[in-house]
Amino acid sequence: MAPTSVKSVAFALQGLLTLCSAGPVHQQRSDVPDGFYVPAYYPAPYGGWVDSWAESYDKAKALVDQMTLAEKTNITAGSGIFMDEVLGRCNGNTGSALRVGFPQLCLNDAANGVRQADNVTVFPDGITVGATFDKKLMYERGVAIGEESRGKGVHIWLGPTVGPLGRKPKGGRNWEGFGADPVLQGVGARETIRGVQEQGVTATVKHLIGNEQEMYRMFNPFQQGYSANIVQDDRTLHEIYLLPFAFAVHAGVGAVMTAYNAVNGSACSQHPYLINGILKDELGFQGLVMSDWLAHMSGVDSALAGLDLDMPGDVQIPLFGGSFWMYELTRAALNGTVPMERINDMATRVVATWYQMGQDKDFPETNFDTNSNKAVGPLYPAAWPLSPTGVVNEFVQVQDHHHLIARQIAQEAITLLKNKDDLLPLSTSQPLKVFGTAAKTNPDGPNACPDRNCNKGTLGQGWGSGTVDYMYLDDPISALEDRADDVKFYNTDKFPEVDKPTEDDVAIVFITSDAGENTYTVEGNHGDRDASRLFAWHNGDNLVKAAAEKYSNVVVVAQTVGQLVMEEWINLPSVKSVLIAHMPGQEAGQSLTNILFGDASPCGHLPYSITYREEDMPPSVTELIDKALLNQPQDTFSEGLYIDYRYLNHQGIKPRYAFGHGLSYTTFSYTNATITKVTELDTLPPPRPEKGPTLDYSQPIPKPSEGVAPKGFFRIPRYIYSWLSEKEANAAAKDAANEYGAYPDGYTTEQKPGPRAGGGQGGNPALWDVAYKLSVTVTNEGSRNYSGKASVQAYLQYPEGIPYDTPPIQLRDFEKTGELAPGESETVELRLTRRDVSVWDVELQDWVVPEVDGGYKVWLGAASDDLNLVCHVDGLECENNVEGPV
Ligand code: BGC
Repeated sequence: MAPTSVKSVAFALQGLLTLCSAGPVHQQRSDVPDGFYVPAYYPAPYGGWVDSWAESYDKAKALVDQMTLAEKTNITAGSGIFMDEVLGRCNGNTGSALRVGFPQLCLNDAANGVRQADNVTVFPDGITVGATFDKKLMYERGVAIGEESRGKGVHIWLGPTVGPLGRKPKGGRNWEGFGADPVLQGVGARETIRGVQEQGVTATVKHLIGNEQEMYRMFNPFQQGYSANIVQDDRTLHEIYLLPFAFAVHAGVGAVMTAYNAVNGSACSQHPYLINGILKDELGFQGLVMSDWLAHMSGVDSALAGLDLDMPGDVQIPLFGGSFWMYELTRAALNGTVPMERINDMATRVVATWYQMGQDKDFPETNFDTNSNKAVGPLYPAAWPLSPTGVVNEFVQVQDHHHLIARQIAQEAITLLKNKDDLLPLSTSQPLKVFGTAAKTNPDGPNACPDRNCNKGTLGQGWGSGTVDYMYLDDPISALEDRADDVKFYNTDKFPEVDKPTEDDVAIVFITSDAGENTYTVEGNHGDRDASRLFAWHNGDNLVKAAAEKYSNVVVVAQTVGQLVMEEWINLPSVKSVLIAHMPGQEAGQSLTNILFGDASPCGHLPYSITYREEDMPPSVTELIDKALLNQPQDTFSEGLYIDYRYLNHQGIKPRYAFGHGLSYTTFSYTNATITKVTELDTLPPPRPEKGPTLDYSQPIPKPSEGVAPKGFFRIPRYIYSWLSEKEANAAAKDAANEYGAYPDGYTTEQKPGPRAGGGQGGNPALWDVAYKLSVTVTNEGSRNYSGKASVQAYLQYPEGIPYDTPPIQLRDFEKTGELAPGESETVELRLTRRDVSVWDVELQDWVVPEVDGGYKVWLGAASDDLNLVCHVDGLECENNVEGPV
């Protein structure tokens, strides 16, 4: 784990530093281009009308009804950054209502495990899991993360990440998610959430929405976070960026985190259209919505916009005990600016989620402390030096067999881009010359840099809050030295003096590319890869070139957060094999040697496209938006639906390696495609089911005494409480009597029936009906006598001539075979749902099948540019051995 002091202050410092370096105070609201605006959507829709949540809501309401006002406002916000109570030592901790039996909740990162904890597993990052194209592994990782979270006493796990979706190749946090495609992200999220929540831990899908770059993401009193301008015609929102969230809600996710940035000029944490309209009404989200850390910027507005939980409780300048909610929400209730209905609704959402995950029974107490790695430490670090001390870490072992799952994922993600002359696999008796510092663990230790905010040694994870502290790091060089007879390691990124190579020598060159959260700047990169661009760090490209000059057999292994431009070396005659190891986590060594030496065939596939040049993508995604001195920076999604392979195919630009590409040591044939119709479709889905009954949250404004601390209560400095002083509470009540409360234009307390596209978790349930089933037989036909696993990917092409502009092909489903021995076959099944064959119609505000049973083509194969089977929806016939669409 990272040293205590660094660990505790890094985050707070970020807020203060951005503040000190920011420009002059500026109040202008925004410079959003024409056509992008935020419609009002009030009131916040209630939850509990979906059958599977009804019981949890009934129980929650019964509990919330017993709470005082200050208890309700205490459970809807954090008690302050680095502020713990006896049970909470996590990245975020809510207040409690212990009098009625509701505990403080522990909220903890990271998207690849349990952050800042001990005796846990560093799972491969999301991008690595995406590269497996394997639903089972996605699920198993979710189960294991859920088990570790629960074992550590984490109620709400802060993952998975699906936003950023990966629109910008240089975007800092793409590696937390599963790849640059909404279905890959959606399936990754769904499987993860299922696995985590089956362990009784709430998952948090994040960040809603448009957080596609790191720089200038945050609001502070001096600068506005950028505006992601997505919702002009709302089709791009629905078909690309919202889709993974729809998958998550459909899977019953318990929590959603809003993004730091704004959308169409309004900050996500107080965005009534996004939270009330899209998330809670259209997608029918039943759980709780929290702000990202220090992204809460208003009391009344965010409450009315549908936010339920303010995290970590502080205002944007933390550590002074200030909050927009807690005591301020108590005041807002007493003076009538936030209706009690809303407060009861948000408190009920928090408690209902807790019941829904079964956390009311036998939930382990939190037994680790994100602020310290010592057994005993300050109970309230932010109150230092006045904090009492106590036991903060109990070192509970939760790893179990999880390293095996982590290793399997790291291994099955490894993506073989090229393998000229079948150089791989190697034999263990070949003399190996290994180059690059990434082959070996950082000599200062794998956790020497807090939140992995350096790129030194083996790169197992990106940097920022999406990281886990290593208990160990199985690095490639140890695994190579264990397995091979003759390994010479040059621990340098500058090509060294070497002996004259022999003919048998194989050079293995390790290169990296890192990215992370804007909390830290690493080697000039502000989270995004703004300095390194898409080139290997530490002169990695030169290292490869120099090795290629000397040796005639070179294997490149890239530990990379995402796309790399490889043109300087990819075609050099001696660069024969290239492996992308992605972000392998703690199991970087054996997972790689198992592939290098042929214990297993590679079976990873690229979760993004690798282009020849950065400029092969449109400037709206390649260029990072810059700070706007006085105004709000604008990130306008002018490319619309056309990101990654959708753009390249549309423009007819060939990538160096296409989305989905990945070779094996063997070859597979794909034959016998079939398609069957499962559900009769109409242009529009059947009418949505009506909302089930919701609870009655109405209540007169409580007595001021419900918001006042008990006499003689000792306040811990900087701790955030929900109580007002008696004088303040009485003054608020007086304001209410003078009808001080005024709601925004368009506000109403009357619940709406909900939009036509809604009706269940994830929208109209009919959207998830399976419309067509497809099957394909995959046979291991390789002549090299290797077994292996194959990926089957299904891409949809919409009928020609429909009145909607659609990308040439779009991923709709994927499956992986089991291990196939030479000659062995497996038939896999894939599915297309009603939504898969629909488009979002901006005028109808619904999903429309543009041509029922019409000229759709479903392309099947191993990658987006390797699709040799096609099934026709019209006529329900398939052809084998055809030329692919792109
Ligand atoms: C990140 C979130 C994270 C939170 C808590 C924020 O900086 O954006 O993803 O969950 O911190 O650590």
